Amino acid sequence: MLFAFLTESIVKKTKRLKLVEVVYLLKEITNLEMDLRFEAAAANEYSENTKNDSGFQVPKIYWNFTSENVMTLDWVDGVSIRETEDLEKRNIDTKKIASDIIQHFLRHAVRDGFFHADMHQGNIFINNSGQIVPIDFGIMGRLDDLSKKFLAEILYGFIKRDYKKVAEVHLAAGLVPKEVPVDDLAQALRSIGEPIFGQSIKDISGGKLLKQLFDVTEKFNMQTQPQLLMLQKTMVVVEGVARRLNPETNIWETSRPVLEKWLKETKDPITTLSETLKNSAEVIKRLPEMPQIMDKANQALTFLASGQIPQNTNTYNDLNTKKI
Ligand SMILES: Nc1ncnc2c1ncn2[C@@H]1O[C@H](COP(=O)(O)OP(=O)(O)O)[C@@H](O)[C@H]1O
Ligand SMILES: [Mg+2]
Repeated sequence: MLFAFLTESIVKKTKRLKLVEVVYLLKEITNLEMDLRFEAAAANEYSENTKNDSGFQVPKIYWNFTSENVMTLDWVDGVSIRETEDLEKRNIDTKKIASDIIQHFLRHAVRDGFFHADMHQGNIFINNSGQIVPIDFGIMGRLDDLSKKFLAEILYGFIKRDYKKVAEVHLAAGLVPKEVPVDDLAQALRSIGEPIFGQSIKDISGGKLLKQLFDVTEKFNMQTQPQLLMLQKTMVVVEGVARRLNPETNIWETSRPVLEKWLKETKDPITTLSETLKNSAEVIKRLPEMPQIMDKANQALTFLASGQIPQNTNTYNDLNTKKI
């Protein structure tokens, strides 16, 4: 904090980096993360969300033995996925584990909106029943409904190489300013998508794709949401973990069933939106209504401000003769 303060005071140019503010924020976050009851609560929520996910098991928390400084949870009897030799000795199908890790992770993100954001290999075990067991719940990510739907739509759009739809989803979700021409955005998105599809499919990284996507949308004045950024960063890690287990892991083929199933099952607005978008850009057509209404309101206010109230009203006459 002192260093941040000194830097900010001495080198005026660094003021815009808001160093003191950043350090303060880090302090707040750290305080929160240091309270193990919060981590236990995260594990508990994660466990509830995933209780029916076969092959995936979150250790149970023992609340009676958990406090601010102590977290008690089931011991994982098994092997860390870091120990590849051990995994082989136990005849564990590492290829299946690799694709399962990606699928579970994506499912938690799009279905529950709550995902493990520290999925490196030191935090993943395979227990003696062959289930994937995550530990270390200090950093979890959340996605609200809109981000969730948005994410599923853009990834799916990319898989289908339907750049126009990806662009329409950005616009419909209000993620880029409505003045951005849909075709220009689609073109920019194509510039990310196509080179990737030129590569051998197994080299495609969803995490890297999202990173490039955010870079482009930033150019179109879209502010990247921290939630999505966190997801993107974890995605890169998860894919790395999977590739270490099986270098041939095909990220797209692995992700596709989860995203497709999720999109089919969700019947709420954006899926209907995506249905609509498939046939026509109905929603996009309807969006301009709002600005029109705003325009009318604005016109009325301008009239009022400039004194151009319709002159045959009593109010106007009263005003003129100063009766009120
Ligand atoms: N429930 C558990 N069962 C078995 N080993 C565990 C368990 N929890 C933690 N460990 C071991 O302790 C290490 C550190 O725990 P972790 O929760 O990941 O803390 P950190 O936040 O310091 O990474 C893990 O990498 C793992 O080897
Ligand atoms: Mg850890």
